[in-house]
Amino acid sequence: MKKDFLSILDISREELANLIAHARKLKEERRVGIHTPVLANKTLGMIFEKSSTRTRISFETGMFELGGHALFLNPKDMQLGRGEAICDTARVMTRFVSAIMIRANRHDEVQELAVHADIPVINGLSDKEHPCQILADIMTIEERLFRTDGIKVAWIGDGNNVCTSLILSTILTGMEVIVGSPKEFAPKEDLVKESLEKGAKVRVVTDPFEAARDADVVMTDTWISMGQEDEIDRRREIFMPYQVNKDLLSVAKPGAIVMHCLPAHRNWEITDEVIDSKESAVWDQAENRLHVQKALLVRLLA
Ligand code: CP
Ligand code: NVA
Repeated sequence: MKKDFLSILDISREELANLIAHARKLKEERRVGIHTPVLANKTLGMIFEKSSTRTRISFETGMFELGGHALFLNPKDMQLGRGEAICDTARVMTRFVSAIMIRANRHDEVQELAVHADIPVINGLSDKEHPCQILADIMTIEERLFRTDGIKVAWIGDGNNVCTSLILSTILTGMEVIVGSPKEFAPKEDLVKESLEKGAKVRVVTDPFEAARDADVVMTDTWISMGQEDEIDRRREIFMPYQVNKDLLSVAKPGAIVMHCLPAHRNWEITDEVIDSKESAVWDQAENRLHVQKALLVRLLA
């Protein structure tokens, strides 16, 4: 049966460990110039309803390095953009490509595509989750801090799609997440409740300093996710006290690392001083998208 990757919980604890181990191997092989074409003649169709730098480049490069091919598909240029049904798009794509990656406005579109495609579907970001990002983040945390179990992650700012995947991932990693968000932008209560019932370790507070206290990792994301551009002024004002700066980091554990999935609004959610500091893991985080997604593609397709 085909496997999809729509949520970080679509893999088990063991599968996650295997994926990261494989990603580390692929990273090392790439460093010394070894590329094994295990996905020769495989094709990934990539539908992007929203902009992307990292996701597009990492998937496209990843498929190339594995001996396969990736197609960038803009819904505006597809019949999807003229009203062709998602279910029909899924059935037709099944006849052409080996897997689909979709970045969608709504999570239910990703789910509908997966239901009607007989090939693996990967969520490249939806309004609900960004599971590929969290795979790379877990790999980065392990590289920098050598474990995830017992690691305390402070999520500062918007309780958004990336935050949701991070919260759910604690079920697999043994990390603990303390979310510091303005009340209005905290993760949904039912998500937190459901995650706790499944074994997640998460606590939600409104004080960013309380969240960051003794944290091993301080993580943030944009205050204005794609599609929220008309709320810029209001969000910027509400989130300003949640800026990740030296002051906030001073209460984290000595040697704590700073993470941001990017793209960043410099000097809004994260200061230049912090993003460019030695504690910043953001460039490794971005690079690790490539390695971990290659491991994921091999797992789903080889
Ligand atoms: N972090 C991330 O997904 O970046 P892009 O939006 O550039 O793909
Ligand atoms: N939360 C952001 C992540 C971008 C990679 C967004 O959805 O736009």
